[in-house]
Amino acid sequence: MKKGFIFDLDGVIVDTAKYHFLAWQNLASSLGISFSEEQNEQLKGVSRVRSLEKILEWGNTSISQEEFNRLMTEKNEEYLVYISKMDATEILQGVPEVLNYLKLKEQGIALGSASKNARIILEKVHLQNMFDVIVDGTNVSKAKPDPEVFVNGAQELNISPKDCIVFEDSVAGIQAANAADMISIGIGDATILHEADYIFNDFTEIKEEFINQLITTIK
Ligand code: G6P
Ligand code: MG
Repeated sequence: MKKGFIFDLDGVIVDTAKYHFLAWQNLASSLGISFSEEQNEQLKGVSRVRSLEKILEWGNTSISQEEFNRLMTEKNEEYLVYISKMDATEILQGVPEVLNYLKLKEQGIALGSASKNARIILEKVHLQNMFDVIVDGTNVSKAKPDPEVFVNGAQELNISPKDCIVFEDSVAGIQAANAADMISIGIGDATILHEADYIFNDFTEIKEEFINQLITTIK
């Protein structure tokens, strides 16, 4: 059976979450706002605009639209410097093996990311050809936890949402996958991602038998 496997990018395929964190932390400190790892967790999977809005809310700070736009640009420029240095060594452990196995099994493979930088990152790590479909921040209007990004991915793969499986490292992303009626697989901390159908620390824990089970199980 052909299923759709939809991968988030940041924190699932590559560890860019650390670069987003550094850039947001610098921005927050330039505004005199403290920014913790816990708050950063709440920004994972969340769009650039919404992330800045949240940081300003946490800091009880209001700024003009012009300043808001300037900060967004600055944050992204800093982030782009980090990602310009990326190469295939930054692909997270176990990811190539899972992607190769899915290809071998002729499954649908999609990217479902909120990032507007997704294509640049995939090119940097030489993974752009692994995906049949790429849905990213340039073609979605509603941010996760809204299911739009994954629903669009399923549609472009031409596979029903209930036959799709989503890999996510963020709470918002797991909620989006669940709302889309897809199987949600959390990659990361089980206490944070407890709403997921399955949780693994990383892709090295995902064995071929488990993938076979996902391919053959009817929801
Ligand atoms: C991902 C990350 C978020 C990031 C968002 C937008 O979902 O987890 O931390 O804010 O993408 O990324 P962008 O590269 O467009 O700023
Ligand atoms: Mg992510």
